Amino acid sequence: MTAPVGVFDSGVGGLSVAREIRRALPAEHLLYVADTAYVPYGDRGEEEVRARTLAIGAWMQAQGAKVLVVACNTASGAALEALREVLTIPVIGLEPALKPAVRDSANGRVGVMATSGTLRSARFQRLVDNYADGVQVVRDPCPGLADLVEGGMLAGPELAERMEAYVAPLREAGVDTVVLGCTHYAFVRDAIQEALGPDVRLLDSAEAIARRTRQILADGGALAEGAAGSVRILTTGDPAGVTPIVHRLWGEPADVERLEV
Ligand code: DGL
Repeated sequence: MTAPVGVFDSGVGGLSVAREIRRALPAEHLLYVADTAYVPYGDRGEEEVRARTLAIGAWMQAQGAKVLVVACNTASGAALEALREVLTIPVIGLEPALKPAVRDSANGRVGVMATSGTLRSARFQRLVDNYADGVQVVRDPCPGLADLVEGGMLAGPELAERMEAYVAPLREAGVDTVVLGCTHYAFVRDAIQEALGPDVRLLDSAEAIARRTRQILADGGALAEGAAGSVRILTTGDPAGVTPIVHRLWGEPADVERLEV
């Protein structure tokens, strides 16, 4: 079997990135790790998130992954540079799609929904310093929202009510463009759109990351060829607890294995 593409997140959110990679590169074998025992990363200190990310990155490389996609904005914010120092495989990180948001905004007011870990990271501050270009950036930490996705609350009246509260600061600021700066939020995109109204444009990074993955593999002559690739999903939590939400989000049955890291 050819080497897999490693994809990693604190939980199931990174499946929103994995599905774009699968769409763009259907012949690749995907190795997905959900660090469910430590989700949410957004509430943890940077040191701890960095340690988890380095441990899982090292495991991926030891498994023979040919590239590592850190499908988590929080982990990327905390650990991308450190990962690149210690791993020999290419590492692709995520960051909130602020650049296209600034480009697309007509009224000069952009919102970023992300974990507090991402929003307080030096990496995010650099992004704002380099690309905000005079545009007002409204930071919206959404405590508990990734947990709702982990718990399977993807739609319905309770989510709608909570979403109203999550987006209230963005509505008050009158933003016309909102960045989904956490990979979990892609799975509640409809509820976010509903709460913000139809005129607000939503952006995430998943497709761009899939394109970048293709480019890196192509540059290294490492693209898989031929038959359909496989997907292997592991969790550091309880596989029986995680399996139902993985199946809902992934849309096809996949065994979830237990991983000790
Ligand atoms: N999915 C992660 C991200 O993109 C964060 C969720 C969490 O807090 O663990 O930032």
